[in-house]
Order: sequence, then C-alpha cells, then structure tokens
Amino acid sequence: MENKAWYKEMSVYQIWCRSFCDGNGDGIGDLWGVLSKLDYIKSLGVDGIWFSPLYPSPNADYGYDISDYKSIHPDFGDLDIFRQVLEGAHERGMRVFMDLVINHTSDEHPWFTESKKGPGNPYRDYYFWRKGRGRHRPPNNWDSLFEGRAWEYDRASDEWYLHIFSKKQPDLNMDNPRVREEVKDIMRFWLDMGVDGFREDVITYISKAEGLPSARVKLPAATGMKYYADGPKVKAYLAEFKRDVLDYYDCFTVGEGSLMSPETALGYIREGEEQVLNMMISFSHMQADCFMTDFIQRPFSLRKLKKALSEWQDALFGRGWNCLYLENHDHPRVISRYGSEKYPVESGKMLAAGYLFLRGTPFIYQGQEIGMLNHYLPRLEDYRDIMTKNNYRIARRLGIPEKRALFMAQRGSRDNARTPMQWSASENGGFSDVRPWFAVNPNYSSVNVASQEEDPDSLLNFYRSALEFRRENEVVIYGNYREHLKDSDELYVYERNYEGRKLLVICSFTEEPVRFDAPEGIDLESGEQVFGNYESCFVICNGFTTRPYEMRVYLF
Ligand code: GLC
Ligand code: CA
Repeated sequence: MENKAWYKEMSVYQIWCRSFCDGNGDGIGDLWGVLSKLDYIKSLGVDGIWFSPLYPSPNADYGYDISDYKSIHPDFGDLDIFRQVLEGAHERGMRVFMDLVINHTSDEHPWFTESKKGPGNPYRDYYFWRKGRGRHRPPNNWDSLFEGRAWEYDRASDEWYLHIFSKKQPDLNMDNPRVREEVKDIMRFWLDMGVDGFREDVITYISKAEGLPSARVKLPAATGMKYYADGPKVKAYLAEFKRDVLDYYDCFTVGEGSLMSPETALGYIREGEEQVLNMMISFSHMQADCFMTDFIQRPFSLRKLKKALSEWQDALFGRGWNCLYLENHDHPRVISRYGSEKYPVESGKMLAAGYLFLRGTPFIYQGQEIGMLNHYLPRLEDYRDIMTKNNYRIARRLGIPEKRALFMAQRGSRDNARTPMQWSASENGGFSDVRPWFAVNPNYSSVNVASQEEDPDSLLNFYRSALEFRRENEVVIYGNYREHLKDSDELYVYERNYEGRKLLVICSFTEEPVRFDAPEGIDLESGEQVFGNYESCFVICNGFTTRPYEMRVYLF
C-alpha cells in the first residue's frame, strides 16, 4: 500500500521575488507584487509556494547570503506584508515554504562580524577559522564553488575562514551545538508564524569531514567536495532538527542535494524511522546538455535525460518520493535547453507533460508556465550572477578562447532564469512601471501572461489543465512507472498504472517525423487521448508519425 501524504499530492510554484512583480514601483520585485498575484498563482492549480530567500541580504548571491534570518529584505517589504502574503496564500488553500540557507551566512551577519573579532569571541566557533599551512598557504586545498580557493585570510588574527561559496558566504560550523540551536530557533520562528515547511539549501554540505583534510588530487574546480558533500554527521544533524522541531509541526522539507545518486538520496528520504527529509532535489536530469551544473555545454542527449529520470523513478518507487522540476533560479530556461525556440509552444507543452505526469511532486518556476526563454546578454559585464563570472574565469584559465567562454556563460548562466517575469505586452513586460533592476527579455511583447490568458491553447492554460488532471487522477500521483523505447534517441515514452487505470505518455524531442508504435498489449484506440499539442490526432495501425515535438497522453 502506498503511504499517502499531502506533500505527495501537491504541486508547488517557486517565486524568485526580485524578478516576480514590482508592487511599489522601484524596479524590484517585492511582496506587494506577490500579494497582488496570489489569485493568479492559485489559478494555476498549485497547492503551495516556495519562496527563494526573502531575508535581508547584501546580495552577493542574491539572497543566498543572509544577514538576518528573522526578517524580510527591505527591497521585498517587511514582516507585516509577509504575514499578509502568508495569510492570503492560506486563505486560498496554498501552503508556503521558506528557503532555509544554513550551510553559510553572509559575512555581514552579526554572528560573523562578531566571530571576526578574533579567537576568544563567543561567536568565533560559529564558523571554521584555522591557521594556514605556513604563511601564505590556506589550511587546505579546497576550491570555492564561486571564486578561487575556499579560504579567506584575516590579517588581524592571522587565521583563515572557510567559504565553500563566495567569500561573502562563510560556512557555519554545524558541529557547534550552539549553531544547531540557532538553526532550530530560526525554524521555530517561521513555523510558529504559520509557514508550512522549508526548502533546505545545499543541505547535504552542512557537515564537513573531520580535520578538513586536503584532497589528494587538485581538480580544475570544486576540489575538496567529497569532504563536505554528504558528510559524516549530516543525517544526525537533520534528525536532530526533525526530532526537536519539525516533528512538532505539520510541515514538509525538501533538501537540495547537488550531484547525488538516488541511492545516496535514499539515505535521507527513505520512508521509515530514519527518514530526515521528505524529498531531495536531484540534479542528474539537469545535465542532459551539460557537465557540472550547466557549466560545460554539450549537445542535448535525450538518452541521458531519460536515463536520469528513469533511474530516480525506479530507485525511489515504494521507498521515497521524487521532487520533479525542469527549471528553477539556478538553471537556464528549459525550452531553450531541451525543447526548441523554434517550436516554443509545442515543445513547452511536451516538456510539461513529460515531467508533470511522472511520479513525484512537481515544482514550477515562475515564467516556466508561459514558456519564458533564455535571454543572451552581449557582454560578460551585463551578467549579475557570481557563478557565471566564476565559471567564465575558470574557462579562461583552462585556455578556452574568450568568444567560446562568453558563449558558455550565455548558455549556462543562472541569469537566464532571473530576468523579470513577463506579465503583459506593455512596457517592461508589465513587471514594473519603472526600469527594472535587470534586463527584460525583449520577447515579452509576444511571450506574456496576459496574451496567454486569452488563448485556450496557450502553454499557460496547458499547465492549468495538466495540474488539474494530476489532481483528479490518482494514477498520476500514485501510479507505478515503466519506461518504453529506452533506446530511442527521439521519443520518451512511459506508462503509469494504478488501481486498474493506465496512463501512457508519449513525447517527441525532435522536429523530424518519427513513427511511434504502441507497446505490446496497449491498444491506443481503446484509450482516451487526454492531452496533445496538435489538433486532429489520428491513430494509424496502433501508432502514429510524430509532428515536431509532438506529445500525446492516453488514459485507459
Ligand atoms: C543553492 C542555491 C543557489 C545558491 C547556492 C549557495 O544551490 O539554489 O542559488 O547560489 O545554493 O547558497
Ligand atoms: Ca519593488
């Protein structure tokens, strides 16, 4: 018997507030804007909202460097308006999840400014301060994922502090029980206010290997990762948070686990006594056209995508629950990557059906529902994202020519997902009355919410009907998963079965015509075609020849 749970049945909309909707006319998205769009969000048919960090932050990493965990960034509003948003979401039957970033703080967080005062300060041990190896060498050879080495020197104390991300994001020392109490305190603060759970940022990094050893081999990037990814005490700490806090609330957690296999993930999410997270955000299906999270571009490979998706679907069946997504604030737009900018609506619907009908909880990122595309900026200086700049530097250091390195930045930049939301064809895409903080994609005059509201065949309305269908058909939520035509380079085909119902999903990832024959034992004419991205869908000899990026879904 399947363990049913509300978090398995829900779907979630992700908001990256800075680019969602500007409510007070300063060019920056904010919570007044969110409040004004709650009906829109609800109209999508989602059951929850995940907010990327809303807290005060110097924005070295746009909110993922937090300087106060119990407040709201003044650009976004204050706690009062946040409470209104929370209440408004609850009134509409939507839950609210906060981003919990506890691997690191901002270097402007008072804990760190205290800690910097020197050994002996009560906050010194909140972070990793160490002596160097000799005068000029940091304590170990780890790389920062955002800039150069993972250590920053402090002349006053002649010690270095650890930062896996930028030097403005010092790592918290979770081995210190006082730090763990602070985390629990932050969790309680938001849960007591009525928040329904957390998306836990790079949560698998919070426990570092004892002694912080140097890696034996120096890599071109990310040296040292194996000493903090899935570290020795991470599960013990998460179990402690659960026992002391989360178990007292009806809440949910999804962890971010970059570069993790399903087996490793099951160590966190396997249902039963030992479970410490409800779901894990995996990355392998986001690397079908690149290597190392969007960094090194490769041609898109459907085989790679299918392998990743099926591996997780199969491994977690009956044991854990999948987190389904194709976009978030860390990845370029999916139509530009896995679909086709030439067939944005067709491929957008195909991609949507392809993942929304898998087993798991779907997340939809702002703008994905209207098919927002990548926006390639002409110069490196036009980019805001710290990771884009770091990757460019690494590429140059590896001898990659300037033009190619810029091309890689344009394709891989997280900024592709961070351009302002396109609400209408009016100036600035209806995002703001004044010049927005970041470039709006000029395609806003054709790609926007207002025009898609009018059009029953729009991508937006497709997302709505697909989510409604998911809600009304348990086969989509609890059905098993079986992939067909694994060897096809063009088609992704799978079925789901539950209590006598069967769903068959057929997705073409090419504009070329491909003949599809129904798998043995399935008679297409005996089913009802519930979705498609073309009109008049004939079946000939229990199959059909696909049109560009064609998708069909049959229910039996
Ligand atoms: C996560 C966030 C990303 C951030 C990083 C460091 O991967 O999603 O946006 O830069 O953690 O906090
Ligand atoms: Ca604003």
